[in-house]
Amino acid sequence: MATKRTLSERADEHEEQQMKALGDRIVGKSLLYYLSDGERSLGEGFGIGTGKQMLMGEDPRLPPMPEKPTLMDFFKLRFAPSQQHLLQSANLAQKNGLPEKMVLACLLHDIAVTGFIRSDHGYWGAQLIEPYVDEEVSWAIRMHQCMRFFPDETVGYAYPENYTRMFGADYQLEPYIVAEYERAKNHKWYMSGRMICVNDLYSFDHDIVIELEQFEDVIGRHFKQPEEGLGNDNTPASHMWRTLRRPCNAL
Ligand SMILES: [Fe+2]
Ligand SMILES: [Fe+2]
Repeated sequence: MATKRTLSERADEHEEQQMKALGDRIVGKSLLYYLSDGERSLGEGFGIGTGKQMLMGEDPRLPPMPEKPTLMDFFKLRFAPSQQHLLQSANLAQKNGLPEKMVLACLLHDIAVTGFIRSDHGYWGAQLIEPYVDEEVSWAIRMHQCMRFFPDETVGYAYPENYTRMFGADYQLEPYIVAEYERAKNHKWYMSGRMICVNDLYSFDHDIVIELEQFEDVIGRHFKQPEEGLGNDNTPASHMWRTLRRPCNAL
């Protein structure tokens, strides 16, 4: 298994470089990272007794961010590189002639999966962008979480085949998803949430590569970029952007 060893050697090397970049400081990982591994732990906890300083401030292992980061900076410097799902959904929305506001909604609909937290991603994503977009955009992103599971034949939307593969044919929706859908289906913006589902591509085209720059103008017109930079501003979501920028601050 020569290849496997090479890979793990490379991983070790990478880890060593990261340790060097940290100097003597240790990283206090959040409970969430451990829970994701099925563990209830804080690792070295608060670092009391280790004699080492804990990481606070910029993380030398991550790409440095500009003083006043924009949404595009976060896409490029923090979000997972697998952004084609978002870009291709927005591209399809554009092709389908949706209003620019909805193109932005499609571009950001899974921002939580790509850039923050997967679980309950519609809610986290909506919260992250809420202060900076039209209310209809964040509403639609929040509601696509539940709408994804319900077909709507009037717009040709069926229950996604890959959900059967991913979650099993016997997957039962949780009551809060059903209740949310019941509330959403009579809402004045129902169709906006539904349009996210319709343009939400799972089997996207691997032969075309969409660049974020294609949506620079849409972002410029419909995302209220704070002058002081995301995270340096003072909104109910600023702390989330700061956490993304410095995810391992000890406190
Ligand atoms: Fe989604
Ligand atoms: Fe999606």
